[in-house]
Amino acid sequence: MADEAGEVVGFVMCVERGAWARSGYIPLIGVAPTHKGKGIGLALLQRAESFLSHSSSDVFLLVSDFNTPAQRFYERHGYTRVGALPDYILPGVTEYIYWKRLK
Ligand SMILES: CC(C)(COP(=O)(O)OP(=O)(O)OC[C@H]1O[C@@H](n2cnc3c(N)ncnc32)[C@H](O)[C@@H]1OP(=O)(O)O)[C@@H](O)C(=O)NCCC(=O)NCCS
Repeated sequence: MADEAGEVVGFVMCVERGAWARSGYIPLIGVAPTHKGKGIGLALLQRAESFLSHSSSDVFLLVSDFNTPAQRFYERHGYTRVGALPDYILPGVTEYIYWKRLK
């Protein structure tokens, strides 16, 4: 969690070996709308990657096709789109698979 003066302004969830019982997986990351664009998302992402790097050499995550700001955010921080899962979570929505090698 990220907090500012005791108020939670962001969070990240990460699962060791959560992808194919091998690679790190980040299922959730979010920053309060009032606090976006201040580097909090990057700090959370780096914290998750640091934690996951102890058990895996790479990380996977999913991003919905409509979430172009998040796609740009991950691409800027070294993630590559490596696949797509049509209708995986929501009908009519494709989840893009993003991957980053940590080592
Ligand atoms: C995606 C998300 C986690 C990013 O969090 P964030 O705190 O806004 O991320 P950052 O501030 O580190 O970076 C966002 C942008 O702000 C800019 N930025 C970073 N630090 C900055 C600073 N100190 N001053 C000004 N701009 C800054 C960056 O250029 C960055 O641009 P980019 O998105 O094109 O890379 C956030 O937008 C979010 O919660 N989105 C909704 C939930 C979501 O989509 N989660 C991901 C689902 S897979």
